[in-house]
Amino acid sequence: MGEHKLLTEHFGTEGLQTLAVYERVGGYQGLREALSRFTPETLIDEVKASGLRGRGGAGFPTGTKWGFLPKDVFPRYLCCNADESEPGCFKDRALIDENPHQLIEGLLIAAYALQVNTAFIYIRGEYHDQRLLLERCVEEARAAGHIGANVLGSGFSCDVIVHGGAGAYICGEETALIDSLEGYRGQPRLKPPFPALKGLYGKPTVVNNVETLSNLPHIVQRGGAWFKQLGTEKSAGTRLFCCSGHINRPGTYEIAMGTPIRELLEEECGGIWKDRSIKAFQPGGGSMQVLLPEHLDLPLDMDAVAQAGSSLGAGAMVFMDETTCMVNVSMRLVDFYHHESCGKCAPCREGTYFESDLMHRLEAGHLTLEELHTLADICDNMNGKCFCPLGDTATWFVMSAFKAFRDEFEAHCGAGACPVRTASAQLVTA
Ligand SMILES: Cc1cc2nc3c(=O)[nH]c(=O)nc-3n(C[C@H](O)[C@H](O)[C@H](O)COP(=O)(O)O)c2cc1C
Repeated sequence: MGEHKLLTEHFGTEGLQTLAVYERVGGYQGLREALSRFTPETLIDEVKASGLRGRGGAGFPTGTKWGFLPKDVFPRYLCCNADESEPGCFKDRALIDENPHQLIEGLLIAAYALQVNTAFIYIRGEYHDQRLLLERCVEEARAAGHIGANVLGSGFSCDVIVHGGAGAYICGEETALIDSLEGYRGQPRLKPPFPALKGLYGKPTVVNNVETLSNLPHIVQRGGAWFKQLGTEKSAGTRLFCCSGHINRPGTYEIAMGTPIRELLEEECGGIWKDRSIKAFQPGGGSMQVLLPEHLDLPLDMDAVAQAGSSLGAGAMVFMDETTCMVNVSMRLVDFYHHESCGKCAPCREGTYFESDLMHRLEAGHLTLEELHTLADICDNMNGKCFCPLGDTATWFVMSAFKAFRDEFEAHCGAGACPVRTASAQLVTA
């Protein structure tokens, strides 16, 4: 198990960002095969058979999602979600930086399966260089006949539009992304109706993550059954994990699903830095619940991590060493959600404000024990009661850390300063 290169196989190849080099390593063969060997229906079946689940966070089966589009309603739209703004997440950026044509090829394969004639890549505002790179690659692919009318002489036509966001985390939520693409302020829409029925411009729409789409050329070429046998029963294929925090080798690693988390930490990331021990980690980015050293033997499997009370989310692993103050980490994450709350619903807009205020006072050692319990009340009034998951997830890390490190949270109350950082400073000096 362990490292398994599929999406990252050609990373580092000089000039891979050009069409010529991408084609030299077998690029666009998947698209050719999709157009010649499959009908849209059989292609959807192949993706269903592969067991591919979305890599954007929720892990919904891709083929099943595609199957929700109503028959005979056109036009339909496809949006690639490249908004990647989850704290700790940078694997989509790596996929675009290193192999942009792989994404474009995957997008075109999905467009053919869904019979979409206009596909969008919605890219995070801060990914300015990546947007320019994608625009250049789209033009290159268009000039070669891979994009536009009569793709590769197949009779299927598809245009691709790269659209830059304005740097709002909420625009990664699929309905807010659609709002933003339509030119409105990006805010989530009420579901149902789901985008599959009523999405962009009121038409059937599929939103898929960069990594999800980048898998498609490989599934077409090697077959759904081959893909399914990589990984575990319910988590097929490989996944890119962007690893950061207190480790020796931060970076993006492609790993077969089912590999123990400990193997990812020790073999790929080089273990915890400075010979320190691990205190906690987040397996799926800023939104996900904290896990503890005893969870390191869990397999990288979406269901196994969910059973342990967290989620692999978008594949962002943040490791924290023994000197980390869990109150400080919680405060910083809460600040992020407070800043990014779109303001549409009161529980999130007001809740993140109060959460942030309490966390700042707690971290500075100025909160009373009674006020600490207000924090739990506030989170309870948000979780499951917000308009979209942003508000729910603004409570997940802090509440899980409060539960797992209750002594640490309580020790801050009335301490006048952060007791963990004071103790850590002594440890570091020693
Ligand atoms: C607040 C919020 C932010 C999100 N940000 C992203 C993102 O940056 N990229 C992404 O692919 N999905 C993001 N999602 C999930 C999307 O709504 C959607 O589920 C995903 O793009 C579907 O793609 P997939 O089926 O390929 O995973 C976000 C969800 C929420 C609630």
